[in-house]
Amino acid sequence: MKPKCFITRKIPDVGLNKIGQHFEIEVWEKDTPPPKEILREKVRYVNALVTLLTDPIDKEVLANAPKLRIISQYAVGYDNIDIEECTRRGIYVTNTPGVLTDAVADLTWALILSITRRIVEAHDYVISGKWEESKVGWHPTLMLGTELKGKILGIIGMGRIGQAVAKRAIGFGIKVIYYSRKRKEEIEKELNAEFVDLNTLLRKSDIISIHVSLNKDTYHMINSENLRLVKPTAYLINTSRGAVIDEKALYIALTSGKIAGAALDVFEKEPTLSDNPLLKLRNVIATPHIGSATNETRNKMAEIVADNLIAFLNNIIPPNLVNTDVRRIRKPGFD
Ligand code: GLV
Ligand code: GLV
Repeated sequence: MKPKCFITRKIPDVGLNKIGQHFEIEVWEKDTPPPKEILREKVRYVNALVTLLTDPIDKEVLANAPKLRIISQYAVGYDNIDIEECTRRGIYVTNTPGVLTDAVADLTWALILSITRRIVEAHDYVISGKWEESKVGWHPTLMLGTELKGKILGIIGMGRIGQAVAKRAIGFGIKVIYYSRKRKEEIEKELNAEFVDLNTLLRKSDIISIHVSLNKDTYHMINSENLRLVKPTAYLINTSRGAVIDEKALYIALTSGKIAGAALDVFEKEPTLSDNPLLKLRNVIATPHIGSATNETRNKMAEIVADNLIAFLNNIIPPNLVNTDVRRIRKPGFD
């Protein structure tokens, strides 16, 4: 008998078909996440789960999942899953790193360029008819922005994505400094990047871009205390997780001229509410968590989700195992 797998959203067919060859699958067909009651009911009988970052997999869900052996997350981040509890219960957790690195780095640069060259504002100016109304064609001071060449880009988190952002920086002639939990001396030369502590990074950077995962150490890593250090001309970019920034503190910094602007793809609450005061600010650009949203990447993520499940099914350690300690609790494979 094939093991049972519940898939919490319709992921691309390449993944679904591949999983379907080896598992008896049930797919939640709605676009909104399965409600907690449904999730709790489904996990009661499944051997495997495919989850999204919008599915909270907490102690309560896990306590109701006696047969669950593997959770294959359709994302690189996994802050929605109680990893420690999974390990304790011998449940393998996998993610989809690597394949979305370039897509997220591209979006980061799209946001850097958009905020520094006021692309959204400029687009609105043309589309709304204001340009026509002005009767001014080219004007020496219309929509002046900030040049990147010679400036300093501060990257917080020098994992795969941070490195891909740094690589792209070379072409723009912007100097890279970075802060990371661990110094990465071996890549500093290649990326022409200098390691600094977080406060120095915040003080020196003209553009600050965040590429850490969310955990208890990075929650509100950017807060009222250290936003005081930032240059009033600096821009903050976030394509990681919303809660790395204290949004209230950012709002105060933005409205009191302590920082020039922010481009945010992620929010403390998603979808972010239309009454989020950040969205009312002209110096904020917002996108709806689309870092990995390319056809190419989402298809590859779906394949990796399948590959991790199939490896486990074949009693092999899945290639993208997150909680490596779980190997000591249980061998890979369904019983
Ligand atoms: C998206 O945010 C991801 O973690 O893959
Ligand atoms: C984080 O997981 C990264 O890929 O940078």
